[in-house]
Amino acid sequence: MSEKKIIAVMGATGAQGGGLVRAMLANPGSGFVPRAVTRKPDSDKARALAGLGAEVVAGDADDPASLERAFAGAHGVFCVTNFWEHFSAEREGAQASAMARATRKAGVRHVIWSTLEDTRKWIRLDDGRLPTLQGRYKVPHFDAKGAVDHVFAEEAAPTTYLLASFYWENFIHFGMGPRQGPDGDLVLAMPLGGARLPGIAAEDIGRCAYGVFRSGTDTIGQRIGVAGEVLSGPEMAAKMGHALKRKVDFSDVPFDVYRGLGFPGAEDLGNMFQFQAILGDEFLRSRDPVRSRALNPQLLSFDAWLGANIGRIPIA
Ligand SMILES: NC(=O)c1ccc[n+]([C@@H]2O[C@H](COP(=O)([O-])OP(=O)(O)OC[C@H]3O[C@@H](n4cnc5c(N)ncnc54)[C@H](OP(=O)(O)O)[C@@H]3O)[C@@H](O)[C@H]2O)c1
Repeated sequence: MSEKKIIAVMGATGAQGGGLVRAMLANPGSGFVPRAVTRKPDSDKARALAGLGAEVVAGDADDPASLERAFAGAHGVFCVTNFWEHFSAEREGAQASAMARATRKAGVRHVIWSTLEDTRKWIRLDDGRLPTLQGRYKVPHFDAKGAVDHVFAEEAAPTTYLLASFYWENFIHFGMGPRQGPDGDLVLAMPLGGARLPGIAAEDIGRCAYGVFRSGTDTIGQRIGVAGEVLSGPEMAAKMGHALKRKVDFSDVPFDVYRGLGFPGAEDLGNMFQFQAILGDEFLRSRDPVRSRALNPQLLSFDAWLGANIGRIPIA
């Protein structure tokens, strides 16, 4: 029997969990082995993880019994939910709560819960600056996660809370990259309200989670925000311009205009950016690149990420 500690990884076929699985596989001497949990063990992504050497098991966050089976015998569990698959804060909360309870039933020793702030602790529902969404949320994909932190604290195995920051991959996959302006110059348009934005290469989130598991159980109960770098809009545009060898201007889009863009999630994201601007330095302090680098010495700067990914950013 292997003496290595099994880490069961939710979202293993995705960005955060995938980074954690690959970090463990890249460090075979670490004492940890990944168990990738997926709804579709036969999918190409799951097969690719198995091909790299990961154990792959079936598990569905909508099916609590399947989670207990998937977590059985594991030392650690990484929990992440995907709001953007269904856009329902209620369902995300139910999925996360099921994961939390299953970790305790399975006798797990250390859980990482990939959470975000419940913004309603800062912005009350009757605060008109952010429109209320889904009946009782300000930033549904943040609030739903933060609202179940207490379930992890009270009903899960011992938990460390990990807060991700804006993935720079959003410039590739989420249509947030620069666009051609009327004069032919490129414009990076984002609603930052003058604030600086903590950002990270998505792969680094899982590497930081690996650093948390490696550092043992000292971090239990802590909230650890991870970021590769904290940059203003003009700084991000200038760095993109340097990588593209073209001028890229920054346009700070008014929050109301962004909320009105009409794509799925526009209001949620508009509120998210405005929440970050309202919190200002308090939000920046919650995501510390120095601590992130201590957990993950490979942490990429934005320039390094651009160096590897600039050709993948679609220029509209
Ligand atoms: N984009 C950003 O800038 C950003 C920043 C901070 C936080 N986040 C948060 O990141 C979360 C998504 O994480 P990600 O980007 O790592 O995901 P992702 O790359 O979009 O992949 C989604 C993962 O979730 C798994 N999954 C979804 N529903 C599941 C279910 N019912 N049971 C089991 N597994 C399920 C999928 O696994 P299978 O399909 O294989 O089952 C897949 O591995 C979101 O909730 C978002 O709010 C995003």
